[in-house]
Amino acid sequence: MALWGGRFTQEADARFKDFNDSLRFDYRMAEQDIEGSIGWAKAIASVGIITPQELASLTSALNELLEEVRQNPHSIAGAGFEDIHSYVESRLIDKVGDLGKKLHTGRSRNDQVATDIKLWCRAQISVLAGSIRNLQKKLTLAAEAYKDVVMPGYTHLQRAQPVVFGHWALAYVEMLDRDFIRLENAGRLMNRCPLGSAALAGTAYPVDRDALAKDLGFDEATGNSLDSVSDRDHIAEILGCAAISMMHLSRFAEDLIIYNSGESAFLDLSDRVTSGSSLMPQKKNPDALELIRGKTGRVYGALMGILTTLKALPLAYDKDMQEDKEGLFDALDTWHDCLDMAALVLEDIRIRADRTLEAAKGGYSNATELADYLVSKGVPFREAHHMVGELVVYAIGAGKPLEDLTVDEFRKVSDRIGDDVYPCLEISSALAKRCAKGGVAPEQVAAAIQRMKRHLGI
Ligand code: ARG
Repeated sequence: MALWGGRFTQEADARFKDFNDSLRFDYRMAEQDIEGSIGWAKAIASVGIITPQELASLTSALNELLEEVRQNPHSIAGAGFEDIHSYVESRLIDKVGDLGKKLHTGRSRNDQVATDIKLWCRAQISVLAGSIRNLQKKLTLAAEAYKDVVMPGYTHLQRAQPVVFGHWALAYVEMLDRDFIRLENAGRLMNRCPLGSAALAGTAYPVDRDALAKDLGFDEATGNSLDSVSDRDHIAEILGCAAISMMHLSRFAEDLIIYNSGESAFLDLSDRVTSGSSLMPQKKNPDALELIRGKTGRVYGALMGILTTLKALPLAYDKDMQEDKEGLFDALDTWHDCLDMAALVLEDIRIRADRTLEAAKGGYSNATELADYLVSKGVPFREAHHMVGELVVYAIGAGKPLEDLTVDEFRKVSDRIGDDVYPCLEISSALAKRCAKGGVAPEQVAAAIQRMKRHLGI
């Protein structure tokens, strides 16, 4: 059954075969392997290795096989072959007999696997890009629905200045936009096809590799055969995209977990994305979000894994490189699932505007407004900052928010404070002042929502 029996007189040890075989995971590249094989069949036909009739038979058998593997891809996993390349070749031979044995002329599994995995990554990019866009849309719609809901903004997880929920949601839309662009850029670097590099030194048949590359949807052929079969940069790159985006998703998850805690109680998560405790009947746990946060670790692990596997690997192909796939498949599945789960969580999230407003009013988060008020009265900001600090200490002692201090109390610190201070201490005033681009002022948030809706086509 193996592709390479001639040189061997002994059977492989079953334990080695188990250890060595990759079909149980690389079956996922079945479509790409067949696609690449059709391309290669055309290439060898163009240099006379097979006749046009033979090409037609190979192509139709490969297309038939493509249909079959699409029906039930997972059934291939246990078919007992060494890898997906052996599986496809053997199934082809079942269909067309000895003609199938000509397909591997001038090709190696080294350029074949390099091509398959690149094609697979390219196909994943559009799927993942779709999930990023979907989550961005959900976030933008949530931003619109909750654009006036005041909530505390935090630094150091201490209430800092008031913001609105819409502004918070748009922060994640921005992050995801960078993730989208990063993925697109990664795709742009995956535009060269390694097929025709053979084992390491290049194919011994004068095929037009650029035409072959274009036929497979690439822009051109790769430039150096040694590099072609040993390059797995695209895997590290796409895992880098996944890792950064998962970092964003983990922050999204963590924010919502905090906002959902009993102490904050800023929002309710739907029963559809939470689960209960086997012991404590009252519990409703944010499992979807915790899993997004937790799965970030395994995606980082896949990135570290591929970088470590490739480190100091001598040119050209080494079997170590077979270790490129499981982490890649797992990490991209995980990223994809987390993007979709984050969108699902947002679908029927309920923000408790009374609670967020109450929290935004506490914590002296209008202290900056008081300092700015003093600045408007001619006090240099650094001095104003100090005075307000003293007033906050006083107000904490008196058990009052700043806006409940009397003018006399304010004047203990600065005689420049008058009745006109009170409007400045209101949340609406704090929000309205942040009117430069990117700020939390209502018109800025509304404009940002409109910009994003246009950008996302909603
Ligand atoms: N299963 C192998 C891999 O994933 C395919 C390439 C095998 N090449 C070889 N020379 N043994 O890397």
